Amino acid sequence: MKTKTMYQCDKCGYETISWTGKCPSCHNWGSLKEKVEIQSPRGEKGKQNKKAKLLRKVEVDLSKRIQTGIGELNRVLGGGIVKDSCAILTARPGAGKSTLLLEIAGDLATDEIKILYISGEESESQIKSRANRILDEIPENIWILSTTSMDIALENIKSLDPDIIFLDSIQTMVLEEYSSRAGSPVQTVECTNQLIEMCKGSRPRAAIMVGHMTKADEMAGLRTLEHMVDTVLLLEGESDEALRVLISTKNRFGRTGEIGLFNMEENGLKEITDSNEFFITKRRRNVPGAALSMIKEGSRLIVVEVESLVSKSFTPYPQRIGDSLRKDQLNTLISILEERGNMNLYDKNVILKTTGGIRVSEQSVNLAIIIAIVSSLKNIGIDQKTVFIAEVGLTGELKKVPQLTDRIRELDRLGYKKCYTYPFEEEIPTKNLDIIKCEELSDVISDIF
Ligand code: TYD
Ligand code: MG
Repeated sequence: MKTKTMYQCDKCGYETISWTGKCPSCHNWGSLKEKVEIQSPRGEKGKQNKKAKLLRKVEVDLSKRIQTGIGELNRVLGGGIVKDSCAILTARPGAGKSTLLLEIAGDLATDEIKILYISGEESESQIKSRANRILDEIPENIWILSTTSMDIALENIKSLDPDIIFLDSIQTMVLEEYSSRAGSPVQTVECTNQLIEMCKGSRPRAAIMVGHMTKADEMAGLRTLEHMVDTVLLLEGESDEALRVLISTKNRFGRTGEIGLFNMEENGLKEITDSNEFFITKRRRNVPGAALSMIKEGSRLIVVEVESLVSKSFTPYPQRIGDSLRKDQLNTLISILEERGNMNLYDKNVILKTTGGIRVSEQSVNLAIIIAIVSSLKNIGIDQKTVFIAEVGLTGELKKVPQLTDRIRELDRLGYKKCYTYPFEEEIPTKNLDIIKCEELSDVISDIF
């Protein structure tokens, strides 16, 4: 523990680090008395008596969370907004960050929960017209402040004393104290620091701030902010698709990898609660080029539909387009199909997408991708109650995917009839679902077509 010797005037309370005979403040002689101050390390004030606790006896305080009425958001946050936390919400321009914040505000504001929405991007009337568009009714306790001055924002936080603060966006705010422009590292870091202080002090508050993303899909120079906040939320989605996927890439209060699904509609972002309806097409007959699979995102199992179109190419460089996949994934799968499935695609364009535009990065969907291509190539439709779950190796063998049992049980529950997958040992009892185990890709192709 560090100590520091100070001198304090016992007449007027004036403090100084060096002793003088006469107090410079009240001009009394001999009134400065020595005073020893114990200096606590930065940020540890008032924690001197902290004792270790038995982990088994520590209680989890559930009252520290505010459950929103938006289930998709609660899941991503790991069970609601933590009362003294600071999160950053990031996405490309136009993804729906401001819309999402306003919807959370509309959902949470009550007599007990006061919300302050600070915007450096839009005027109060712009925010109001968006609120009119997306909220059925505007609750009493939402306060709006349109400013780019962090000093004004902080004053308002102190005087209004909100429970939840939204700050849209951190790159537009400036603290007078620093001369650098809005969005510079100094301003963003210092403004974030001030905001965090407002949340973690004796009066707990939750804050979500918006952070802009550059084209390179990185938070615009804001890597440092990721380390400062408790939670980093990412809202993904292509501008020409309605689907928005909310994921947490950092969460001090829950697991990462959970996803929240939303649909951007005329009147705001709507939760997709029935994901098994959203990502498949309801058809009366089988059409060539479509195959189903099941992915696992966080704790969630989702049936996805892969659509493929194979057409003749009139140039020596056929096109391979697959927006919902990783770039190399489609090319690799086409090569496997050519070599191990004995099909020629060198003079064919291949276009691939998923219904609803959900990105599929999981390997479990690879068999369905190849089967969708073959289905289009042969112009033969696949039964809509058949699902394909396996990774396909470069050897053409079907390979293991994680949590196959969970996927099979869920498919059975949803009423699917057939599942093509890799050979496995354990018994998985099913009611409706026929499990067809295949060693090789060519076995699946010859069984179906
Ligand atoms: P916005 O929340 O302003 O995005 P961000 O803050 O991430 O830049 O939303 C932008 C897009 O969403 C805009 O192009 C219009 C569309 N939108 C809808 O389709 N429906 C709506 O109800 C709202 C408010 C926006
Ligand atoms: Mg915005």
